[in-house]
Amino acid sequence: MWAVLPLLCAGAWLLGPLARGAASLSLGSPETFRFKSWMQQHQKTYSTEEYRHRLQTFASNQRKIKEHNARNHTFKMGINPFSDMTFAEFKRRFLWSEPQNCSATKSNYLRGTGPYPTSVDWRKKGRFVSPVKNQGGCGSCWTFSTTGALESAIAIKTGKMLSLSEQQLVDCAQNFNNHGCQGGLPSQAFEYIRYNKGIMGEDSYPYEGKDGNCKFQPGKAIAFVKDVANITLNDEAAMVEAVALYNPVSFAFEVTSDFMLYRKGIYSSTSCHKTPDKVNHAVLAVGYGEQNGKPYWIVKNSWGPSWGMNGYFLIERGKNMCGLAACASYPIPQV
Ligand SMILES: *[C@@H]1O[C@H](CO)[C@@H](O)[C@H](O)[C@H]1NC(C)=O
Ligand SMILES: *[C@@H]1O[C@H](CO)[C@@H](O)[C@H](O)[C@H]1NC(C)=O
Ligand SMILES: *[C@@H]1O[C@H](CO)[C@@H](O)[C@H](O)[C@H]1NC(C)=O
Repeated sequence: MWAVLPLLCAGAWLLGPLARGAASLSLGSPETFRFKSWMQQHQKTYSTEEYRHRLQTFASNQRKIKEHNARNHTFKMGINPFSDMTFAEFKRRFLWSEPQNCSATKSNYLRGTGPYPTSVDWRKKGRFVSPVKNQGGCGSCWTFSTTGALESAIAIKTGKMLSLSEQQLVDCAQNFNNHGCQGGLPSQAFEYIRYNKGIMGEDSYPYEGKDGNCKFQPGKAIAFVKDVANITLNDEAAMVEAVALYNPVSFAFEVTSDFMLYRKGIYSSTSCHKTPDKVNHAVLAVGYGEQNGKPYWIVKNSWGPSWGMNGYFLIERGKNMCGLAACASYPIPQV
């Protein structure tokens, strides 16, 4: 193991492993150079063995990005914090391995008939969306979708922006069919907060990114849920209404390999399904719009601000893309 990447001597150090492996990457190749600056940028360090494997994966991702971007897609791929991982590795660390009862969510949302504005962006209406957070190597996306939706709901009602505890949901919300780093659903997490009588703040119950024992203290709860709006299965128009009229909306969808390398533009895929039992990632819709006749959602992710468009992505709207209308919901706060 070596601590900091020695850019200057990395060439000499590399000679051994690369020469032995008949690797396609030659010493000092642009790929190697790019990989080394990426490692510096993301403060990555590897063992000798791992370095080789990571460099190969990085180069293969780079090829995928190039091929994709050369075609006429509505979104671009790019190098990001996950560029040294295969999708299989990424999936194990960040996504749900088990389906999360998405289609079992009973709806109670009654949709009106519109019309609604052609575009909405809660980020631009005022201070209604909290900064992008980072879930780390834990399948806890559902907790970030949950806190994001509730933080917005409270800000919209009171003008006060809180930062709520994801770790409390990871540690304490099991009785509502949630499973910490193994997954959960925002609708079930809102129900937990409602019946638990509150959720603590980020500072009093900070994020650790791993499963732990419940440390909830009732006296320190700062946010409360009065009711939960569950949107009807596959009713994407109801999601539009809810985002236009009420609140950012939590939803889940199926992440496939082309999404891992997303950089910007309107994500649209033929490799994902539209079925509720395939969704594996929860996020937060904070708005919608349309570009060159293509409608999209504006979505807040929980993979840090250096992924995608400052932590956000756009995804095609109106086609139940990747099952995104499978189990959308939002909380009604008690204030
Ligand atoms: C690329 O996509 C745009 C927008 O969908 C379309 O107008 C254009 O004709 C396409 N170009 C090619 C070469 O397919
Ligand atoms: C789905 O719901 C059933 C019945 O409530 C429960 O037993 C099961 O654990 C749930 N599955 C998940 C992944 O939460
Ligand atoms: C909303 O969904 C949650 C989680 O699936 C469920 O516990 C709750 O009963 C649903 N609400 C209504 C009113 O059906």
